[in-house]
Amino acid sequence: MELIKVTEQKEPHVALIELNRPKELNALNPQLMQEVRDALVTLDKNDGVRVIIITGNEQAFAAGADIKQMADKSAIDMLLLDQFTTWDQIRKTKKPIIAAVSGFALGGGCEFVMTCDMVIASETAKFGQPEIKIGTIPGAGGTQRLTKAVGKAKAMELILTGRFLSAEEAHFYGLVNKVVPKEMYLQEAFTLAKEIAQLSPVAVQLAKESINRSFETHLDEGLTLERKNFYLTFASADQKEGMKAFIEKRKPEFKGQ
Ligand code: HXC
Repeated sequence: MELIKVTEQKEPHVALIELNRPKELNALNPQLMQEVRDALVTLDKNDGVRVIIITGNEQAFAAGADIKQMADKSAIDMLLLDQFTTWDQIRKTKKPIIAAVSGFALGGGCEFVMTCDMVIASETAKFGQPEIKIGTIPGAGGTQRLTKAVGKAKAMELILTGRFLSAEEAHFYGLVNKVVPKEMYLQEAFTLAKEIAQLSPVAVQLAKESINRSFETHLDEGLTLERKNFYLTFASADQKEGMKAFIEKRKPEFKGQ
Protein backbone atom coordinates (compact mmCIF):
# COMPACT_ATOMS: atom_id res chain seq x y z
CA MET A 1 0.00 0.00 0.00
CA GLU A 2 1.75 3.14 -1.21
CA LEU A 3 -0.98 5.77 -1.15
CA ILE A 4 -2.92 4.74 1.96
CA LYS A 5 -2.07 3.57 5.48
CA VAL A 6 -4.11 0.83 7.12
CA THR A 7 -4.21 0.08 10.85
CA GLU A 8 -6.29 -3.01 11.51
CA GLN A 9 -7.04 -2.55 15.22
CA LYS A 10 -6.39 1.03 16.19
CA GLU A 11 -9.04 0.43 18.84
CA PRO A 12 -10.59 -2.99 19.47
CA HIS A 13 -12.74 -3.93 16.45
CA VAL A 14 -12.11 -0.60 14.70
CA ALA A 15 -9.83 -0.26 11.67
CA LEU A 16 -8.46 2.98 10.27
CA ILE A 17 -7.64 3.77 6.62
CA GLU A 18 -5.70 7.00 6.07
CA LEU A 19 -5.44 8.48 2.57
CA ASN A 20 -1.83 9.45 2.15
CA ARG A 21 -0.99 11.70 -0.82
CA PRO A 22 -0.61 14.87 1.23
CA LYS A 23 1.28 16.90 -1.38
CA GLU A 24 -1.59 16.51 -3.85
CA LEU A 25 -4.26 17.11 -1.17
CA ASN A 26 -5.05 13.38 -1.41
CA ALA A 27 -6.17 13.70 -5.04
CA LEU A 28 -7.76 10.38 -5.88
CA ASN A 29 -6.14 8.42 -8.69
CA PRO A 30 -7.13 4.90 -9.74
CA GLN A 31 -4.21 3.39 -7.79
CA LEU A 32 -5.31 5.03 -4.53
CA MET A 33 -8.89 3.90 -5.02
CA GLN A 34 -7.73 0.34 -5.80
CA GLU A 35 -5.67 0.33 -2.62
CA VAL A 36 -8.76 1.45 -0.67
CA ARG A 37 -10.82 -1.26 -2.36
CA ASP A 38 -8.21 -3.94 -1.55
CA ALA A 39 -8.00 -2.79 2.08
CA LEU A 40 -11.78 -2.85 2.45
CA VAL A 41 -12.03 -6.35 0.97
CA THR A 42 -9.41 -7.55 3.49
CA LEU A 43 -11.03 -5.76 6.44
CA ASP A 44 -14.47 -7.06 5.48
CA LYS A 45 -13.09 -10.61 5.81
CA ASN A 46 -11.30 -9.95 9.11
CA ASP A 47 -13.59 -11.12 11.95
CA GLY A 48 -11.73 -8.92 14.42
CA VAL A 49 -12.84 -5.75 12.58
CA ARG A 50 -16.41 -4.48 12.94
CA VAL A 51 -16.28 -0.82 11.92
CA ILE A 52 -13.96 1.01 9.51
CA ILE A 53 -12.96 4.68 9.62
CA ILE A 54 -11.60 6.40 6.51
CA THR A 55 -9.81 9.71 6.89
CA GLY A 56 -7.40 12.05 5.12
CA ASN A 57 -5.36 14.62 7.02
CA GLU A 58 -6.14 17.98 8.61
CA GLN A 59 -5.82 19.88 5.34
CA ALA A 60 -7.80 17.56 3.11
CA PHE A 61 -9.90 14.46 3.08
CA ALA A 62 -9.44 14.56 -0.70
CA ALA A 63 -9.52 17.45 -3.20
CA GLY A 64 -11.08 15.33 -5.93
CA ALA A 65 -10.02 13.02 -8.70
CA ASP A 66 -6.50 13.68 -9.95
CA ILE A 67 -6.97 16.47 -12.50
CA LYS A 68 -3.40 16.17 -13.76
CA GLN A 69 -3.94 12.51 -14.66
CA MET A 70 -7.30 13.19 -16.35
CA ALA A 71 -6.60 16.44 -18.17
CA ASP A 72 -5.61 14.96 -21.57
CA LYS A 73 -7.92 11.95 -21.59
CA SER A 74 -10.51 11.39 -24.33
CA ALA A 75 -14.05 10.23 -23.63
CA ILE A 76 -13.06 6.76 -24.83
CA ASP A 77 -9.93 6.75 -22.62
CA MET A 78 -12.21 7.49 -19.65
CA LEU A 79 -14.67 4.78 -20.68
CA LEU A 80 -11.92 2.17 -21.09
CA LEU A 81 -10.24 3.18 -17.82
CA ASP A 82 -13.39 1.81 -16.15
CA GLN A 83 -12.41 3.25 -12.79
CA PHE A 84 -15.91 3.06 -11.37
CA THR A 85 -15.83 -0.73 -11.07
CA THR A 86 -13.47 -0.10 -8.15
CA TRP A 87 -15.94 2.39 -6.65
CA ASP A 88 -18.77 -0.14 -7.05
CA GLN A 89 -16.71 -2.71 -5.14
CA ILE A 90 -16.09 -0.14 -2.39
CA ARG A 91 -19.80 0.45 -1.96
CA LYS A 92 -20.35 -3.30 -1.55
CA THR A 93 -18.39 -3.29 1.75
CA LYS A 94 -20.55 -5.01 4.36
CA LYS A 95 -19.14 -3.37 7.48
CA PRO A 96 -20.07 0.20 8.34
CA ILE A 97 -17.68 2.91 7.17
CA ILE A 98 -17.34 6.28 8.89
CA ALA A 99 -15.67 9.13 7.00
CA ALA A 100 -13.71 11.46 9.31
CA VAL A 101 -13.32 14.67 7.34
CA SER A 102 -11.12 17.71 7.87
CA GLY A 103 -10.37 20.34 5.23
CA PHE A 104 -11.32 19.78 1.60
CA ALA A 105 -13.75 17.07 0.49
CA LEU A 106 -14.27 18.13 -3.10
CA GLY A 107 -15.36 16.47 -6.35
CA GLY A 108 -14.47 12.78 -6.14
CA GLY A 109 -13.48 13.47 -2.49
CA CYS A 110 -17.02 14.55 -1.65
CA GLU A 111 -18.36 11.60 -3.64
CA PHE A 112 -16.09 9.27 -1.68
CA VAL A 113 -17.41 10.74 1.60
CA MET A 114 -20.98 10.18 0.41
CA THR A 115 -20.12 6.56 -0.50
CA CYS A 116 -19.28 6.04 3.20
CA ASP A 117 -22.12 5.42 5.67
CA MET A 118 -21.69 8.19 8.23
CA VAL A 119 -19.65 11.38 8.35
CA ILE A 120 -17.91 13.15 11.23
CA ALA A 121 -16.59 16.56 10.16
CA SER A 122 -14.08 18.96 11.63
CA GLU A 123 -15.36 22.54 11.75
CA THR A 124 -12.76 23.26 9.03
CA ALA A 125 -14.29 20.80 6.55
CA LYS A 126 -15.40 22.09 3.14
CA PHE A 127 -17.60 20.02 0.87
CA GLY A 128 -18.34 20.61 -2.79
CA GLN A 129 -18.67 19.34 -6.34
CA PRO A 130 -16.57 21.93 -8.22
CA GLU A 131 -16.22 19.82 -11.41
CA ILE A 132 -18.31 22.32 -13.37
CA LYS A 133 -15.53 24.89 -12.92
CA ILE A 134 -13.14 22.64 -14.85
CA GLY A 135 -15.63 21.79 -17.58
CA THR A 136 -16.82 18.42 -16.35
CA ILE A 137 -19.43 16.97 -13.98
CA PRO A 138 -19.39 14.60 -11.00
CA GLY A 139 -18.76 11.01 -12.13
CA ALA A 140 -18.69 8.91 -8.96
CA GLY A 141 -22.27 9.39 -7.82
CA GLY A 142 -22.29 13.09 -6.88
CA THR A 143 -25.35 14.00 -8.93
CA GLN A 144 -27.25 11.11 -7.35
CA ARG A 145 -26.04 10.99 -3.76
CA LEU A 146 -25.80 14.74 -3.15
CA THR A 147 -29.34 15.17 -4.42
CA LYS A 148 -30.58 12.52 -2.00
CA ALA A 149 -28.52 13.95 0.84
CA VAL A 150 -29.34 17.67 0.56
CA GLY A 151 -32.40 17.86 -1.73
CA LYS A 152 -32.75 18.92 -5.35
CA ALA A 153 -32.52 22.71 -5.07
CA LYS A 154 -29.34 22.72 -3.00
CA ALA A 155 -27.76 19.95 -5.11
CA MET A 156 -28.51 21.95 -8.28
CA GLU A 157 -26.93 25.06 -6.74
CA LEU A 158 -23.82 23.22 -5.56
CA ILE A 159 -23.24 21.19 -8.74
CA LEU A 160 -24.13 23.97 -11.22
CA THR A 161 -22.02 26.63 -9.48
CA GLY A 162 -19.27 24.57 -7.87
CA ARG A 163 -19.78 26.47 -4.59
CA PHE A 164 -18.47 24.90 -1.38
CA LEU A 165 -20.51 24.02 1.72
CA SER A 166 -19.02 24.75 5.12
CA ALA A 167 -19.12 22.02 7.77
CA GLU A 168 -21.98 23.80 9.54
CA GLU A 169 -24.01 24.06 6.32
CA ALA A 170 -23.24 20.43 5.49
CA HIS A 171 -24.60 19.50 8.92
CA PHE A 172 -27.68 21.67 8.43
CA TYR A 173 -28.43 19.96 5.11
CA GLY A 174 -27.93 16.45 6.51
CA LEU A 175 -24.75 15.62 4.65
CA VAL A 176 -22.80 15.02 7.87
CA ASN A 177 -23.71 13.50 11.23
CA LYS A 178 -21.75 15.80 13.51
CA VAL A 179 -19.36 18.74 13.41
CA VAL A 180 -16.65 19.03 16.08
CA PRO A 181 -13.57 21.20 16.70
CA LYS A 182 -10.67 20.30 14.45
CA GLU A 183 -8.64 18.60 17.19
CA MET A 184 -11.50 16.17 17.78
CA TYR A 185 -12.81 14.88 14.46
CA LEU A 186 -10.88 11.63 14.46
CA GLN A 187 -11.53 10.99 18.15
CA GLU A 188 -15.25 11.62 17.61
CA ALA A 189 -15.26 9.16 14.70
CA PHE A 190 -13.69 6.56 17.02
CA THR A 191 -16.34 7.26 19.68
CA LEU A 192 -19.08 6.55 17.14
CA ALA A 193 -17.22 3.51 15.77
CA LYS A 194 -16.71 2.01 19.24
CA GLU A 195 -20.39 2.43 20.10
CA ILE A 196 -21.38 0.51 16.95
CA ALA A 197 -18.59 -2.06 17.43
CA GLN A 198 -20.13 -3.18 20.75
CA LEU A 199 -23.33 -4.24 19.02
CA SER A 200 -24.10 -7.43 17.12
CA PRO A 201 -21.92 -7.31 13.99
CA VAL A 202 -24.45 -9.49 12.20
CA ALA A 203 -27.36 -7.15 12.96
CA VAL A 204 -25.23 -4.09 12.12
CA GLN A 205 -24.32 -5.48 8.68
CA LEU A 206 -27.88 -6.48 7.91
CA ALA A 207 -29.15 -3.06 9.01
CA LYS A 208 -26.58 -1.35 6.79
CA GLU A 209 -27.58 -3.50 3.82
CA SER A 210 -31.26 -2.72 4.40
CA ILE A 211 -30.76 1.05 4.72
CA ASN A 212 -28.68 1.06 1.55
CA ARG A 213 -31.39 -0.82 -0.31
CA SER A 214 -33.85 1.97 0.47
CA PHE A 215 -31.29 4.57 -0.48
CA GLU A 216 -30.02 2.84 -3.61
CA THR A 217 -33.13 1.42 -5.26
CA HIS A 218 -32.88 3.78 -8.22
CA LEU A 219 -29.19 4.51 -7.81
CA ASP A 220 -27.85 2.14 -10.49
CA GLU A 221 -29.91 3.78 -13.21
CA GLY A 222 -28.80 7.24 -12.13
CA LEU A 223 -25.17 6.20 -11.85
CA THR A 224 -25.16 4.74 -15.36
CA LEU A 225 -26.47 7.98 -16.87
CA GLU A 226 -24.08 10.10 -14.81
CA ARG A 227 -21.07 8.00 -15.90
CA LYS A 228 -21.90 8.32 -19.58
CA ASN A 229 -22.37 12.08 -19.22
CA PHE A 230 -19.13 12.39 -17.28
CA TYR A 231 -17.27 10.52 -20.07
CA LEU A 232 -19.01 12.73 -22.65
CA THR A 233 -17.57 15.90 -21.09
CA PHE A 234 -14.13 14.57 -22.05
CA ALA A 235 -15.18 14.94 -25.70
CA SER A 236 -15.55 18.71 -25.14
CA ALA A 237 -13.03 21.47 -25.66
CA ASP A 238 -14.33 23.02 -22.44
CA GLN A 239 -13.10 20.09 -20.33
CA LYS A 240 -9.64 20.33 -21.94
CA GLU A 241 -9.60 24.09 -21.35
CA GLY A 242 -10.93 23.79 -17.78
CA MET A 243 -8.36 21.25 -16.65
CA LYS A 244 -5.51 22.92 -18.52
CA ALA A 245 -6.40 26.22 -16.87
CA PHE A 246 -6.38 24.57 -13.44
CA ILE A 247 -2.91 23.15 -14.04
CA GLU A 248 -1.66 26.50 -15.40
CA LYS A 249 -3.28 28.30 -12.45
CA ARG A 250 -5.41 30.65 -14.57
CA LYS A 251 -9.09 31.32 -15.14
CA PRO A 252 -10.63 29.08 -17.83
CA GLU A 253 -12.39 30.45 -20.91
CA PHE A 254 -15.35 28.26 -21.77
CA LYS A 255 -16.71 28.39 -25.33
CA GLY A 256 -19.49 25.82 -25.19
CA GLN A 257 -17.68 23.39 -27.48
C1 HXC B 1 -4.58 17.05 -8.90
C2 HXC B 1 -4.52 18.63 -7.26
C3 HXC B 1 -5.92 18.55 -7.08
C4 HXC B 1 -6.62 17.62 -7.87
C5 HXC B 1 -5.16 20.02 -5.70
N1 HXC B 1 -4.10 19.55 -6.39
N2 HXC B 1 -6.28 19.43 -6.09
N3 HXC B 1 -3.86 17.90 -8.15
N4 HXC B 1 -5.91 16.90 -8.78
N5 HXC B 1 -7.93 17.43 -7.75
C6 HXC B 1 -2.71 19.96 -6.25
C7 HXC B 1 -2.48 21.36 -6.81
O1 HXC B 1 -2.31 21.33 -8.22
C8 HXC B 1 -1.23 21.75 -6.08
O2 HXC B 1 -0.13 21.11 -6.71
C9 HXC B 1 -1.40 21.09 -4.70
O3 HXC B 1 -2.35 20.04 -4.89
C10 HXC B 1 -1.97 22.08 -3.68
O4 HXC B 1 -3.13 22.67 -4.21
P1 HXC B 1 -3.34 24.26 -4.34
O5 HXC B 1 -4.35 24.49 -5.39
O6 HXC B 1 -2.02 24.95 -4.50
O7 HXC B 1 -3.91 24.58 -2.89
P2 HXC B 1 -4.94 25.72 -2.48
O8 HXC B 1 -4.60 27.02 -3.14
O9 HXC B 1 -4.99 25.65 -0.98
O10 HXC B 1 -6.36 25.27 -3.07
C11 HXC B 1 -6.95 24.11 -2.60
C12 HXC B 1 -8.10 23.73 -3.54
C13 HXC B 1 -7.62 23.65 -5.01
C14 HXC B 1 -9.26 24.75 -3.43
C15 HXC B 1 -8.63 22.37 -3.03
O11 HXC B 1 -6.47 22.81 -5.06
C16 HXC B 1 -8.62 23.08 -5.96
O12 HXC B 1 -9.54 23.76 -6.40
N6 HXC B 1 -8.43 21.80 -6.33
C17 HXC B 1 -9.26 21.17 -7.34
C18 HXC B 1 -10.62 20.82 -6.79
C19 HXC B 1 -11.46 20.18 -7.87
O13 HXC B 1 -11.76 20.77 -8.91
N7 HXC B 1 -11.83 18.94 -7.63
C20 HXC B 1 -12.65 18.15 -8.58
C21 HXC B 1 -11.76 17.37 -9.53
S1 HXC B 1 -12.69 16.52 -10.76
P3 HXC B 1 1.23 21.91 -7.04
O14 HXC B 1 2.02 20.93 -7.83
O15 HXC B 1 0.84 23.17 -7.75
O16 HXC B 1 1.79 22.16 -5.66
C22 HXC B 1 -13.34 15.21 -9.94
C23 HXC B 1 -14.20 14.31 -10.77
C24 HXC B 1 -14.60 13.09 -10.01
O17 HXC B 1 -13.13 15.00 -8.79
C25 HXC B 1 -14.92 11.99 -10.96
C26 HXC B 1 -14.95 10.66 -10.37
C27 HXC B 1 -13.76 10.10 -9.73
